[in-house]
Amino acid sequence: MSTYRVASIPGDGIGVDVQREACKVLDTAAQRFGFGLEWTEFDWSCERYAETGAMMPADGIATLRSFDAVLLGAIGFPGVPDHVSLWGLLIPVRRAFEQYVNLRPVRLLPGTASALAGRGADELEMVIVRENSEGEYSEVGGRHNAGRPGEFVLQESVFTRVGVERVVRYAFELARTRQRRVCSATKSNGIIHTMPFWDEIFAEVAAEYPDVEAEQMHIDALAARMVQRPDLLDVVVGSNLFGDILSDLAAAITGGLGMAPSGNLNPEGQFPSMFEAVHGSAPDIAGQGIANPVAQILAAAMMLDQLGEKAAGEAVRGAVQSVLAASEVLTPDLGGGATTAELGSAVAESL
Ligand code: NAD
Ligand code: IPM
Ligand code: MN
Repeated sequence: MSTYRVASIPGDGIGVDVQREACKVLDTAAQRFGFGLEWTEFDWSCERYAETGAMMPADGIATLRSFDAVLLGAIGFPGVPDHVSLWGLLIPVRRAFEQYVNLRPVRLLPGTASALAGRGADELEMVIVRENSEGEYSEVGGRHNAGRPGEFVLQESVFTRVGVERVVRYAFELARTRQRRVCSATKSNGIIHTMPFWDEIFAEVAAEYPDVEAEQMHIDALAARMVQRPDLLDVVVGSNLFGDILSDLAAAITGGLGMAPSGNLNPEGQFPSMFEAVHGSAPDIAGQGIANPVAQILAAAMMLDQLGEKAAGEAVRGAVQSVLAASEVLTPDLGGGATTAELGSAVAESL
């Protein structure tokens, strides 16, 4: 029997609630499919920061390195500035483990409604491949002339040839397993230096995949297309910031943030990958027990795929679908009155 060692970081706010349900479902899947899951839970969070002055211990990254995968709830909570909590945990993990692909599948599941009137599941099936290690998310920059009339801030974007090429290549390889269409999110109409460089590398890689239809769109027009003609999109590849924004938009058109999973992947498997929902810690509903756990359960299913337990991952997705399709146990964001735990348990039972 294979046993996988998984690091669990519930984190902050609803991260804690949805993580509990994802672990419940995975333990059920492990039992049913005959593999082992050995969980190690870490209390790394804003609460820990308030007590100790650090989101995680100094050797946190080294500790995670020995695990097969990381399952993360959400990081960030009022009281600790976001730049402190995120640069103290989430971003260092993504970078240290070269999780340069943030894979965000987008699907409209049965029993849930799109925010777009009249759109069905067959029109809403795409995947966002977000660059996850560089780009607009850089530490280069800062505040100048603080407190003086000439105060200003600077933020540098850093795009490397290696960094762009590997994520674009991932998108094309993925497209070969799907509808063979890649759309690149850009903003190269003469405004910023970085995007013509991104486009150049996109075109070079695209030339190696003549069997895949390659297209680029300005991010503003692409946002409109995602709403008006989502059926035209298959694989969407974008920079760190563009991919971030598009993934919440994509979540919104497929049942909301409570439905959208994500995987921070180190495709070479040299380091552990990390799985989490697209959403954050939702302070506005934290502590109420009403967060939708589906996004986190689907992220956990992506983790099973990556660990090599594809049948179990597929079964978890199937269980989520059948619970949603029955429309009996739904959280408030889906129009129901169920709690986080009730929905999680219904999925586990359906397995
Ligand atoms: P958010 O995703 O936490 O919440 C946005 C809105 O969506 C809120 O109204 C929330 O109630 C709702 N929502 C989100 N997930 C839901 C779910 N599972 N079920 C039902 N409703 C849900 O985004 P935000 O408010 O911008 O950020 C809150 C905090 O989370 C911030 O500190 C932010 O930095 C952090 N954050 C962390 C991550 C992460 O850890 N990966 C991701 C995004 C945001
Ligand atoms: C996400 C989040 C993070 C991001 C924030 C919390 C830094 O929004 O995972 O989508 O922008 O990467
Ligand atoms: Mn985001």
